[in-house]
Amino acid sequence: MNLNSKIAIITGASSGIGAQFSKDLVERGATVYGIARSTEKLNKLHELLGALFKPITLDITKPEDVQNWVDSTFGPKHLPDVLINNAGLGYFANVDELNLDEWHKMLNVNLSGVFYITRLIVPHMKENENVTHIINIASIAGLMGNPKISAYNATKFGLRGFSDALYKELRHDGIKVTCFFPGSIATHFFDNIDEVDLHSNMMQPEDVSSSVLHVLETPDNYLINEIVLRPLNPKSPG
Ligand SMILES: NC(=O)c1ccc[n+]([C@@H]2O[C@H](COP(=O)([O-])OP(=O)(O)OC[C@H]3O[C@@H](n4cnc5c(N)ncnc54)[C@H](OP(=O)(O)O)[C@@H]3O)[C@@H](O)[C@H]2O)c1
Repeated sequence: MNLNSKIAIITGASSGIGAQFSKDLVERGATVYGIARSTEKLNKLHELLGALFKPITLDITKPEDVQNWVDSTFGPKHLPDVLINNAGLGYFANVDELNLDEWHKMLNVNLSGVFYITRLIVPHMKENENVTHIINIASIAGLMGNPKISAYNATKFGLRGFSDALYKELRHDGIKVTCFFPGSIATHFFDNIDEVDLHSNMMQPEDVSSSVLHVLETPDNYLINEIVLRPLNPKSPG
């Protein structure tokens, strides 16, 4: 896909890798609808990126709000080309210590939110004569379980299953689906988490974004359906 003049939706655009994806897609000439709950952070990004970045204050866990936004934004003359399901959060604790509120928040954002928006964007992508692309940001935690992150594991394994089924279902409609499984990335994701061993040699958002751009820009009849990303050396050399 040539990203110039394309229409993209990025959830979790207000910080971390979502903000980086937004910057890189805007630089390629795409219009980006950047979704998150924090209006202030989105507006700052708007000031930085200019008119091609459209800040959208939206909580993806509220299906009626998602429906209203999709219905009022897209139609036959304005069809989305790219959806990046990136919004996500993690609460890490032993299974007998994680509370129900944290379990539900993770399920609601990492899985239900992805479902709410994807099911409404897909019909518009089916109408689009161009090849379109859905990218789901899972995690290395979608491929391997580990102590203290069982609930987060469950959501990201779930996202893998959703993505695997979707690529098989939607390939016949000209819709690519790719699931990303990144290891640790230097973002604010870990700010409220003291249950994991943080290290100082994480991947950088711009490196992860360069792989997203690569996957998006592949030729139409070429699909990378899964991609695993890791720091080469997760502990700082020396
Ligand atoms: N950092 C890592 O090491 C790492 C590794 C593997 C995978 N990931 C995945 O990468 C994705 C992005 O994480 P990040 O590292 O960039 O973390 P981050 O900086 O904390 O970004 C998370 C984003 O999700 C948005 N968000 C959370 N709840 C939302 C909701 N209900 N509705 C709309 N937006 C919501 C947040 O915006 P608001 O708070 O403004 O709503 C924020 O923009 C997540 O899915 C995460 O699981 C991260």
